[in-house]
Amino acid sequence: MRTPIMAGNWKMNKNPKETQAFLDGVKGKLPEASKVETVIAAPAIDLTTLVAGATGTPLKTAAENSYFENEGAFTGETSPKALSEMGVDYVVIGHSERRGYFHETDEDINKKAKAILANGLLPIICCGESLEQREAGQTNDWVAYQVAGALVGLSADDVKKSVVAYEPIWAIGTGKTATADQAQEVVAHIRATIKKLYDAETGDAIRILYGGSVKPANVKELMAKEDIDGGLVGGASMDPDSFVALANYQD
Ligand code: PGA
Repeated sequence: MRTPIMAGNWKMNKNPKETQAFLDGVKGKLPEASKVETVIAAPAIDLTTLVAGATGTPLKTAAENSYFENEGAFTGETSPKALSEMGVDYVVIGHSERRGYFHETDEDINKKAKAILANGLLPIICCGESLEQREAGQTNDWVAYQVAGALVGLSADDVKKSVVAYEPIWAIGTGKTATADQAQEVVAHIRATIKKLYDAETGDAIRILYGGSVKPANVKELMAKEDIDGGLVGGASMDPDSFVALANYQD
């Protein structure tokens, strides 16, 4: 049984004070981690506040990016080792905004996945097609290529613990959600790809999320799909009541 994950991605929003206000707003309202794992991915400057507030609660924490080296002369980067030492649980890698605006390649993402896992953190590996690619019928091949690239050299045990997030670029922040059927089709293809690259057990174990305009109004329909194990949620994760509603989608 795969435990569902509801993960917020705040992107470059909220300061430490606003992070604390969010924590106060969700306090006591999130499900136990064994029922639905809840995660917030926050800007690096908010992580100290986020980790302190999440300690002793079901909420898990994520960085939105990290570098693939643990330390050194890399001005402006975030160390996966330091993230691990401060008690962060996950790191989002390969978000389409990082691929697009900051030119991250599949090779960078693969190096980051390895460094994250080596530090005892878990990667949330994002993939997804553009509208042009979807219209050209390239979606399944493209996401399979991105996922395979991110996983190069990882052991089956590491892959089982990792998380993939399928986020069609045309659905991010646009209010245009993929239909539950469209999301299920691609997520199932990603799972089949992982089964081919590894084995059935690994493909059945890895959790695959859908992201792109997930909100309380559409979360139930998406989560009803066989292969969709959760959501990576931008806009609708910022407000505590909305995040609480997403996290408790089963009720
Ligand atoms: P959105 O963002 O929910 O605002 O579409 C999703 C994401 O980018 O992870």
